[in-house]
Amino acid sequence: MYTSNSGIAGAVVLITGGLGAISLTYAKQLMSHGIKGLVLADKNIKNSKNIIMELENHGTGDVIFVRTDINIKDQLENAFEVAVKKFNQLDIFINNAAILNESQWIKMIQTNFTAAITSNYLALKKYLPKYRNSEEATIINTVCISSLIPFKSCAIYSTTKSGVLGLHKALSNPYWYKLYRCRFLALCPGLTQTPMLQQMGSKGIDLDLFDEECYDYPIQDPERCGDCLIEALKKGKNGSIWVCDDKIYEWIIPDRFEVGKSTKAK
Ligand SMILES: NC(=O)c1ccc[n+]([C@@H]2O[C@H](COP(=O)([O-])OP(=O)(O)OC[C@H]3O[C@@H](n4cnc5c(N)ncnc54)[C@H](O)[C@@H]3O)[C@@H](O)[C@H]2O)c1
Ligand SMILES: *[C@@H]1O[C@H](CO)[C@@H](O)[C@H](O)[C@H]1NC(C)=O
Ligand SMILES: *[C@@H]1O[C@H](CO)[C@@H](O)[C@H](O)[C@H]1NC(C)=O
Ligand SMILES: *[C@@H]1O[C@H](CO)[C@@H](O)[C@H](O)[C@H]1NC(C)=O
Repeated sequence: MYTSNSGIAGAVVLITGGLGAISLTYAKQLMSHGIKGLVLADKNIKNSKNIIMELENHGTGDVIFVRTDINIKDQLENAFEVAVKKFNQLDIFINNAAILNESQWIKMIQTNFTAAITSNYLALKKYLPKYRNSEEATIINTVCISSLIPFKSCAIYSTTKSGVLGLHKALSNPYWYKLYRCRFLALCPGLTQTPMLQQMGSKGIDLDLFDEECYDYPIQDPERCGDCLIEALKKGKNGSIWVCDDKIYEWIIPDRFEVGKSTKAK
């Protein structure tokens, strides 16, 4: 039987935005760590057949694709249904789909934030408790460094990411853990060379401000995100936040009362 302590081997994993650049680095790593099944849910079909064949070369697990717009609840639910019908098992859910376009900010909130809530709850309450084949399930949210330190040039994007991080913090509490046995991990990539960083001129972003604030930032290879996922899955405690900004490290949020203690009262 798969247990999260013994690693990732044998797990069944569902990823939204599954054909995206970062997701594919997750998928390769998961396959080479011996997962049993992988379900990629994405609104685009792109070259899903080739991608699946390529991924299946990285391990023995089965990979399937389900066309899914996460903004349509029935389609989102269908992705979970297809996963459990195929494998009768689901251990890890990765919320990863997102868009970046400050000019389409209502859609961005819907995709990056509202759908994140819907999918986290579906995974936590409905699917993982029933279908996990392990001591505990895991939900991973692909957030962004901008949830910790906002990108001022992408204020609304950053705010959606902060919202998802807030959700991660709220749901990873002992009470829900006892009820659902689900561990939450948040991954915060820094700037990563993917399609998300292309066509920046038509996304309602102030490019002068973007250049100014990102001038010194490294732009990493997406493969680092796959490394970060594995590190977090192996070492991450429930509620932990993992930054992947060329370097991979855990982001520790100070305890509220400790901060209060060390600050002189006015
Ligand atoms: N690229 C970066 O610099 C960066 C940095 C930090 C965090 N991130 C986050 O990483 C995640 C993946 O982004 P990426 O860089 O791989 O971008 P990407 O554009 O390559 O991947 C995003 C995927 O999500 C899919 N998607 C978008 N809307 C969808 C919807 N409504 N339903 C289903 N699928 C949908 C797209 O089709 C695409 O395949 C996102 O959450 C992004 O916010 C990216
Ligand atoms: C929201 O969309 C932006 C643009 O794609 C993306 O960079 C960001 O990571 C997304 N936010 C979340 C919470 O997924
Ligand atoms: C996550 O769940 C564990 C139970 O293993 C609990 O002790 C811990 O406090 C939770 N994490 C957070 C950040 O609340
Ligand atoms: C961003 O949204 C605007 C307004 O809807 C649109 O004109 C533009 O093409 C979009 N940019 C990208 C890269 O999708």
